[in-house]
Amino acid sequence: MLREFRLDDEVAVHRYGSDEEVTRYLTWGPNSPTDTTAYLKRVARESAREPRTTFTLAVTTLGDELIGVASFTTTDTQSTGELAYVLARDQWGHGYATEVARRLIVFGFDELGLRRITATCHPDNFASARVLEKAGMHFEKTTRDHLRVRGGWRVFAVVASDEGAIHSD
Ligand SMILES: CC(C)(COP(=O)(O)OP(=O)(O)OC[C@H]1O[C@@H](n2cnc3c(N)ncnc32)[C@H](O)[C@@H]1OP(=O)(O)O)[C@@H](O)C(=O)NCCC(=O)NCCS
Repeated sequence: MLREFRLDDEVAVHRYGSDEEVTRYLTWGPNSPTDTTAYLKRVARESAREPRTTFTLAVTTLGDELIGVASFTTTDTQSTGELAYVLARDQWGHGYATEVARRLIVFGFDELGLRRITATCHPDNFASARVLEKAGMHFEKTTRDHLRVRGGWRVFAVVASDEGAIHSD
């Protein structure tokens, strides 16, 4: 399930955000408790902005246990968006990220009316690349200097899915 974050999510958010293995291929983390507090405040500010361009949503189980984050940001023009996801380590390998990516793609096309959705992943992040493929996205290109990670410039793969190109796997 996807829902808005709440202030009482802090403990669960910090659990995955402070995990070195979880943040290994990300541009942030591992987070300190202060980082997590600042992050949740930023998320609350961004979600209140109109028009809304950033959707940072809690990923939960049916029982409302918070297990990760899904995000969607509209970029450049209103017709393009970028998705991302992070799950707590003990939740990996159950197909949840693929489910999240598929939901975000439907959200972007059907609810936001976007024409193009992209995602980036570190070239060594094979699990994430597989998630994007399973969600119907295709590898498009690698870019230099796309994102800065751990003080060094790394090559990232960009995958994109154009409207109508989505298929279920
Ligand atoms: C990447 C991540 C979101 C995947 O979540 P998940 O719920 O385990 O993903 P899924 O179960 O939906 O699918 C994972 C797929 O990757 C495959 N996979 C996992 N590790 C792999 C590896 N080292 N090499 C190749 N494939 C791998 C799995 O077998 C599965 O594919 P399959 O269904 O064909 O077997 C999760 O590991 C995570 O949160 N990582 C840390 C944060 C992160 O990297 N986020 C992405 C930023 S781009």
